[in-house]
Amino acid sequence: MDIKKIFDNNKSWVAEKLNRDKEYFQNLSKGQNPEILYIGCSDSRVTAEELMGAGPGEAFVHRNIANMVSNLDLSAMSVINYAVKFLEVKHIIVCGHYYCGGVKAAMMPEDLGILNPWLRNIRDVYRMHKDELNAIEDEDEKYNRLVELNVQEQCVNVIKTPDVQRALKRQAITVHGWVFDIHSGKLIDLEIDFSGILKEIQQIYRLH
Ligand code: CO
Repeated sequence: MDIKKIFDNNKSWVAEKLNRDKEYFQNLSKGQNPEILYIGCSDSRVTAEELMGAGPGEAFVHRNIANMVSNLDLSAMSVINYAVKFLEVKHIIVCGHYYCGGVKAAMMPEDLGILNPWLRNIRDVYRMHKDELNAIEDEDEKYNRLVELNVQEQCVNVIKTPDVQRALKRQAITVHGWVFDIHSGKLIDLEIDFSGILKEIQQIYRLH
């Protein structure tokens, strides 16, 4: 992609928006009130707003390699804190995707330097579900299943955060686990059992 072309693209985008609504950007500058926190992968093929048909102001977004929610990641924890405490989002979505390079890398016995501690979190998901995964003979099927299980475990990590635990006392928040299938463009709801997981989590991770 030509970097200079980006500024031309931006000009056309501004013109298009203003053509439909003269006060579009003035209104945007007034503030944000998104109802969704979207946590997704940094993969360039997986967009956040575009695949949901959402526009500016509709989703608070956090992306990293393999859509991880790590307790020690100050960035992810700050995003969740702000989204839950100040924006009071109603939905938190963890969206993974098939053909995720991060998940694939975690399945290989390879030393990847600085990426090792990050991928370790995905290897932990593999270990937690190794019986189910090792029973799958087809490598692609196994890979896709780990993508799904990783989304599920990251949803659990979202529910475990103190901010979500606190917020659940005063506001209705639902955590959703989705997978984007790059091959078909379709978004799949994994329909994670939010209340079931919540109940199980509360036994150990509750703060009140
Ligand atoms: Co990915």
